[in-house]
Amino acid sequence: MSPPSPAARPRVTTRTLQRMRDDGKTISMLTAYDFPTAAILDQAGIDILLVGDSLAMVVQGHETTLPVTMDQMLYHAEMVGRAAERALVVVDLPFPEGQREISRSVDCGARVLKETKCHAVKLEGGAEQAERIETLVTAGIPVMAHVGLRPQNIHVDGGYRVHREIDSLVTDALAAEKAGAFAVLVECVTVDAGKAITEAVAVPTIGIGAGPHTTGQVLVTNDLIGLTQGYTPKFVRKIADASSLIRDAATTYRDAVADRSFPGASESF
Ligand code: KIV
Repeated sequence: MSPPSPAARPRVTTRTLQRMRDDGKTISMLTAYDFPTAAILDQAGIDILLVGDSLAMVVQGHETTLPVTMDQMLYHAEMVGRAAERALVVVDLPFPEGQREISRSVDCGARVLKETKCHAVKLEGGAEQAERIETLVTAGIPVMAHVGLRPQNIHVDGGYRVHREIDSLVTDALAAEKAGAFAVLVECVTVDAGKAITEAVAVPTIGIGAGPHTTGQVLVTNDLIGLTQGYTPKFVRKIADASSLIRDAATTYRDAVADRSFPGASESF
């Protein structure tokens, strides 16, 4: 079967997402860091691909998201942007590009739009980021806000925890919406908080560990497919076991090399 034509798979835009939210449809989002994975997720009909700064942990092997640089984000964003034919592609502003001078964030956002085929940036924070979000959006750079657990703030917060303060979470989401964010990602909050935020704002909410009431859901793809080594959070649903698949394939290959059954006649010239 040939793949559907581009006309049959129109690009997801910020407008599409708003329409989906208004029509009561759900939105699916996954992280992607390379061309082949992004192409497969796009073919599967995932609406938003996120080049997340989680790549510091799941690709680079760091303990937190803090070490990844803007140049490294752009390196991965360029591959994902080229692979995605339908999905909207969002790129995280890595620490501390979303915390420094606002003009610096605009420069980073502009690099995302100019140097990759990606469409928007995500930055952590709500009310305290309102001016930054507004400036970016005014400059033509769509922004997804990120409230609740903010991994870039881990050392200030003193660790990862479930956020329960409904009033301040709603205040953050409303401020981000007012500043022009096209969507709000909500990380690691109680079910009640996820519901309250989603009912308070008119833009789509995308939850991760935020319960079932958000407009959409996002997971780190490596967690979803069982590629993450070690700990995965409670909110992860591991749907496949790619680690076993790769380990088994490598073991089979190693054994075939060892007993000289590879390469066989059909694999030789
Ligand atoms: O970087 C990331 O993967 C994220 C998750 C919350 C999806 O921001």
